[in-house]
Amino acid sequence: MYDLDGKKILVTGASSGLGRAAAIKLSALNAKVCLIGRDETRLKETLSLMKNKNHFILPADLKNFEEYEESFKRITMEMGKLDGLVHFAGIHKILPLKAMKVDSLKEMLDVNLLAFFELVKHFTKKNNVNDAGASIVGISSVASLRGASALSGYGCSKAALDGAVRSLACEYASKNIRINSVAPGFVKTPLNDNTMKTLPQEAVDKIINAHPLGIGTPEDVANLVAFLLSSEAKWITGSTIIIDGGFSIAS
Ligand SMILES: NC(=O)c1ccc[n+]([C@@H]2O[C@H](COP(=O)([O-])OP(=O)(O)OC[C@H]3O[C@@H](n4cnc5c(N)ncnc54)[C@H](OP(=O)(O)O)[C@@H]3O)[C@@H](O)[C@H]2O)c1
Repeated sequence: MYDLDGKKILVTGASSGLGRAAAIKLSALNAKVCLIGRDETRLKETLSLMKNKNHFILPADLKNFEEYEESFKRITMEMGKLDGLVHFAGIHKILPLKAMKVDSLKEMLDVNLLAFFELVKHFTKKNNVNDAGASIVGISSVASLRGASALSGYGCSKAALDGAVRSLACEYASKNIRINSVAPGFVKTPLNDNTMKTLPQEAVDKIINAHPLGIGTPEDVANLVAFLLSSEAKWITGSTIIIDGGFSIAS
């Protein structure tokens, strides 16, 4: 499919859902992957599903910004300079404004947005990134484009990520570092399956019917991310690519 042979790629959120599917896909394309998440057991589960065993697991809480310097030293010592970064780690909180506390909003912004800035800052340092260039992908959401009750905090964290991508892409183009984001619609993950089980059938049908092509799979998103990481996407930067089965264009 795409040539990622020998590419070294850091994937956050690799212990679950979309990040796990992407780590599996990237290994299938012969990339060497650094898997980040807090839960070491689930990171090892991801590793057991990947092709080749030359990957590197780094359990870390991305809210601990003071640890990034040391983490990147460990990653590059283990893997050498990096070619790609994908920030899947994210928190999705359904929070009506009147129930929103500053701390819970701040936690969501820390993981979804500020961690992305800090990751990009450290990833792009001379000692950490391939001198010839690299590709960075932030994971946004259609919640950055369309409104929904109780999603103002989550939507704002993703819209801010998309805004950051456009300016960071300008800032790093001279180093041939491309920076894009991907905005998925509703994807079938184990976590979403559990949430769906708690909803009345009518609400489940409403979610499915809002996507003209039906809801997506983690592999759909992984395929797009693999493309953006590859040199086939070498002229794409500063873009937010929507992958939502038509959700955002349907009336
Ligand atoms: N699923 C969808 O329908 C959908 C749609 C649009 C966008 N997205 C976005 O896609 C991304 C992945 O979603 P998902 O459905 O795969 O979610 P998920 O299954 O809940 O996975 C979230 C990942 O983030 C990691 N994470 C959370 N907080 C962290 C922290 N403080 N430090 C390090 N890692 C942390 C988790 O790892 P640990 O638990 O091991 O820490 C886990 O690997 C998110 O950014 C989400 O907003 C998802």
